[in-house]
Amino acid sequence: MQKKDLIELVKTYRNEQKCLIGFNINDIYDLKAIALAADEALSPVMAMTYPPVVELNSSFLCKKMVEGIQANTKQPIYLHLDHSTSITMCKQAIDDGYDSVMIDGSQRSLKENIAMTKEVVKYAESAGVMVEAEIGKIMGRDVVVKSDKDFLASVNDVKAIVEEAQPHILAVGIGTAHGFTPKAPKIHFDRLAEIADAVAVPLVLHGGTGIPDEDIQKSIQMGVAKLNVGTMIHTTYMKSLYNEMRKDIDSAYPPYLLKTVIPEIKDVALNRLNAVNKQYSLA
Ligand code: 13P
Repeated sequence: MQKKDLIELVKTYRNEQKCLIGFNINDIYDLKAIALAADEALSPVMAMTYPPVVELNSSFLCKKMVEGIQANTKQPIYLHLDHSTSITMCKQAIDDGYDSVMIDGSQRSLKENIAMTKEVVKYAESAGVMVEAEIGKIMGRDVVVKSDKDFLASVNDVKAIVEEAQPHILAVGIGTAHGFTPKAPKIHFDRLAEIADAVAVPLVLHGGTGIPDEDIQKSIQMGVAKLNVGTMIHTTYMKSLYNEMRKDIDSAYPPYLLKTVIPEIKDVALNRLNAVNKQYSLA
């Protein structure tokens, strides 16, 4: 299997209005489910590890895990470090063979965010690793939003980080939130249009669990080349496992339970991949 260069792939995706989905994974089992979904949808995917997964397992082990699964998967699986606020963790992931890292300076000042991104971009250069940065904020979890519009990415900030730090791909806060939200998030498409007009860098939409299919498709037409999906994977995994376990907790044996759980996670991932792929058939 020939894996295309990721930086080139996302550039092409932005130009061709296509989109790569990054799925947050926690272990070998949800990774396996994502790989099965990728092969069924005939789409490359990204497996994204949050910092706690790396802290628990090391980026070395995560890389080996993806390498092992890749050997039996036809579609490429790109490995990404998601939302790392630590430059050290990004550098370690680069050294351990990750395809992509996100340095998340969105909670810092613009100046600090640019400086952090610059340092990681420089470090990643010789390894050819893709670097994602973030401007604006993705709401939810422990992200502090100081005012109604505090999350919204400013076009000037976007231009500044792209010009000065040159990340390969950029996450922008345009109203999406991590996790399930009581109602569909209000996506600021007007701001997305302004950003897409101002910079050529491929854009990333976070909070993929709560975004309706039509909004995903519209965003792809406007420059989003990567969509992040996490919560719907974790909750399917946990709920399905719980439902299987409680049938007979005393004889619960992981491989038997996971045989049922993995296809359920795969179906959820496939559903999102199909929502993105529908975009191409509409074009
Ligand atoms: P969800 O958990 O809402 O799918 O968002 C995932 C994400 O954006 C990871 O960076």
